[in-house]
Amino acid sequence: MSNTLGKHIALTLFGESHGPQIGAVLDGMPCGIEVDEKSIAAALTRRRPSGRGETARVEQDNFRLISGVFEGYTTGEPICILIENSNVRSGDYDRTHLLARPSHADYVSHVVHKGYEDWRGGGHFSGRLTAPIVALGAICGKALEKIGVGVATHILSCGTVSDQSFDGVDYGKLDSQIHLILESNFPVLSDIQAQIEAQIEAARLNQDSIGGVIQTAVSHLPAGLGEPWFDSLDGTLANAILSIGGIKGIEFGLGFDFKSATGSSCNDEFYASPEGVRTYSNNSGGINGGYSNGMPVIFNCAVKPTPSIAREQRTIDMATGENATIKIIGRHDPAIIRRICPVVTAMTEIVICDMLKGAFSNSIFEKK
Ligand SMILES: Cc1cc2nc3c(=O)[nH]c(=O)nc-3n(C[C@H](O)[C@H](O)[C@H](O)COP(=O)(O)O)c2cc1C
Repeated sequence: MSNTLGKHIALTLFGESHGPQIGAVLDGMPCGIEVDEKSIAAALTRRRPSGRGETARVEQDNFRLISGVFEGYTTGEPICILIENSNVRSGDYDRTHLLARPSHADYVSHVVHKGYEDWRGGGHFSGRLTAPIVALGAICGKALEKIGVGVATHILSCGTVSDQSFDGVDYGKLDSQIHLILESNFPVLSDIQAQIEAQIEAARLNQDSIGGVIQTAVSHLPAGLGEPWFDSLDGTLANAILSIGGIKGIEFGLGFDFKSATGSSCNDEFYASPEGVRTYSNNSGGINGGYSNGMPVIFNCAVKPTPSIAREQRTIDMATGENATIKIIGRHDPAIIRRICPVVTAMTEIVICDMLKGAFSNSIFEKK
């Protein structure tokens, strides 16, 4: 079992969608990081369903920090957070829980846990488990903010609607874009919220769901953060981000568009600037050889359409092993594209804190 991520700052996740509480432990955070419960609540609000065409399961996300925080600052001991599950309707799953929802984790969970799994609401595999990640990510975000590093994620495309990209070369412009996203409850850089919501609503009315691509930026990382080969910055981020349910792809910089590039068109040529070594372009997504190169780290993730849709679908009855059909009646998002953005931001913040501590020890977080 691997419910723990990270080496120097480690996140352990526990709970089930319809259990009394879910939670996480973050071990290794340095002492003296301000813990602002308002910013934790704000991050949880960004992940919460908005009511506009999203799941009707709106949890209040009442949380308790039960260790590792004293008088508004981290103590350096493990930080444990508990979040209540108060709005559960397990009855929705009674009738169909032995019918595996196509493209959800029900079938593999049944294979692995041999029928002992808590199937209510997807159990341990539920997107609900991302709430404690977001909450603890907000604490890591504060630690990063203190040293000038910013992280944000926006919707790059959903259906046929596309947003502009983060600026990968101009830190001034990128900082304003990150600020805009962190202040907004609908993470887009252009005026396209209504168009995206219309795409999602059309999917819902069609008893369907829709996916898209999201984009994350990390600003002002020092050059040299990473490891060669197996603990590379991109590899470590990919491992963490791909563990989030619903994310099926990740690409750094130009990513799969390298297929139609040439060395001369896509190499990031260097120049000396008063702020240090910079590159004219950033097709590498700020990473060379597994290490940050001092440019913004930029990556895109593919988010699949929500598996639980209202249409009748073919499946297997896990009790009998026979073919069957399923009509899902639970409360589900027709798209998770908006709500997954703060989750990816939080996961990135946790990974970056872990790697910074590994490279520079706790002293990096003491910089003013
Ligand atoms: C914030 C969030 C909310 C989610 N909500 C739902 C949902 O309402 N219904 C659903 O079927 N899947 C939902 N998912 C996606 C499933 O958790 C995910 O597809 C499933 O765990 C299988 O993992 P995989 O898609 O990576 O294979 C959600 C994921 C996230 C991150």
